[in-house]
Amino acid sequence: MPYRLTVIGTGYLGITHAACMADLGYDVLGLDIDADKIRRLNSGDLPIHEPGLEPVLRRGIESGRLRFTTSYEEVAAFGDVHFVCVGTPQKRGEYAADVSYMDNAITSLAPFLDRECLVVGKSTVPVGTAERLAGILTQLAPAGVQAELAWNPEFLREGFAVQDTLNPDRIVLGVRTERAEKVLREVYEPLGEVPVVVTDFPTAELVKSAANSFLATKISFINAMAEVCEAAHADVQQLSLALSYDDRIGGRFLNPGLGFGGGCLPKDIRAFMARAGELGADQALTFLREVDMINMRRRARMVDLARELAGGSFHGCTVGVLGAAFKPNSDDIRDSPALDVAVTIGHQGGQVTVYDPIALDNARKAHPELKYGDSAVEAVRGAHVVLLLTEWQEFVDLDPEELGAVVATRRIVDGRNALNSEAWRSAGWHYRALGRP
Ligand code: UDX
Repeated sequence: MPYRLTVIGTGYLGITHAACMADLGYDVLGLDIDADKIRRLNSGDLPIHEPGLEPVLRRGIESGRLRFTTSYEEVAAFGDVHFVCVGTPQKRGEYAADVSYMDNAITSLAPFLDRECLVVGKSTVPVGTAERLAGILTQLAPAGVQAELAWNPEFLREGFAVQDTLNPDRIVLGVRTERAEKVLREVYEPLGEVPVVVTDFPTAELVKSAANSFLATKISFINAMAEVCEAAHADVQQLSLALSYDDRIGGRFLNPGLGFGGGCLPKDIRAFMARAGELGADQALTFLREVDMINMRRRARMVDLARELAGGSFHGCTVGVLGAAFKPNSDDIRDSPALDVAVTIGHQGGQVTVYDPIALDNARKAHPELKYGDSAVEAVRGAHVVLLLTEWQEFVDLDPEELGAVVATRRIVDGRNALNSEAWRSAGWHYRALGRP
């Protein structure tokens, strides 16, 4: 392999990128400032839940091609291409993204860069960040312009991170020189035939914001239709199905329900609005405020529907919540609609017990005030209302009779339109779903 790679920041994105690149045959050195995490990673222990990633990590460690460190000096000496994968969370009390981890990564790495190399930003950042960081890099790096910046946004989905990294839909390269393009094309060559879009920094940065905005808009569109369906006594699931047969619309990201959460979509559309405002283009994105509001209203509607089923008040009411992760096959609870609903019902006087197949530890740490069950059956034991808030297959497969035997009353709200309503109704359940009669 022509280049040695480093990956700075070992979150969902960084660990996956590092492990997959090592699997392709590269020598890879990962870096994080969290020494404990580095120890775990070096022993092949994956600190997150991501299907299929642990064996890839282990293979890398065992082959000797993959290592992790906390030393920027070591990273600079090791690598020809440095991928920066640090987090860019929402600022507290603001819409804008906090890019301080990005700045820290560049200012920590640059002073050690004394030879030709490429620094490649992969994180989602406000447009204009790459140009600013490129300036900092040339200023601080002893190699000067020989230490060059490129922008290569990442589109991976949690739950499919390995698959998305090894078989991406497209590769976007924001570059300023032919050399940078050549290096990155070579790095990704082992992936085979993948469409590549070569462009400038701001366009590369914007592709990511635009992609996530489109996905969020599609989800909020169908959830807005759900609101109308609720008012008109229509069925949004059948509506969505009928729309999906139109190739121009397509059925993906058209599942009505509790809406989007997670570490990306909500904060990315907010950061995008904030940045557009700074650029004087805020009008172009005012629709995203609506997208965000529709999404948040689904959570409120879910609470209202649960309260209605509880007889008008949560006081003295036991609520069994199925799901804590922001989506199935993930242990990520960042901005999870499910937990948001559970917490709100708790505040309104309900006795809430939550179960999730793998996000329980994270949920417990973030919300020690809630009660947790060790299984779906335990979480709904004695419940007056059951809420399905994350569509894990395990919940889709639940037997309405088995669950019915342990609840106080057979009432369920399907927040993800995931259950077979007929089966639940014929087992004597009062079944309600968002956007359906
Ligand atoms: C997303 C983007 O898909 C990915 O390309 C980007 O790089 C990072 O953000 P991720 O956060 O892993 O990935 O989640 P995703 O699978 O996109 O789901 C986002 C949210 O939308 C989840 O809360 C999910 O439950 C919800 N969703 C998705 C719906 O409510 N309805 C749908 O039809 C699809």
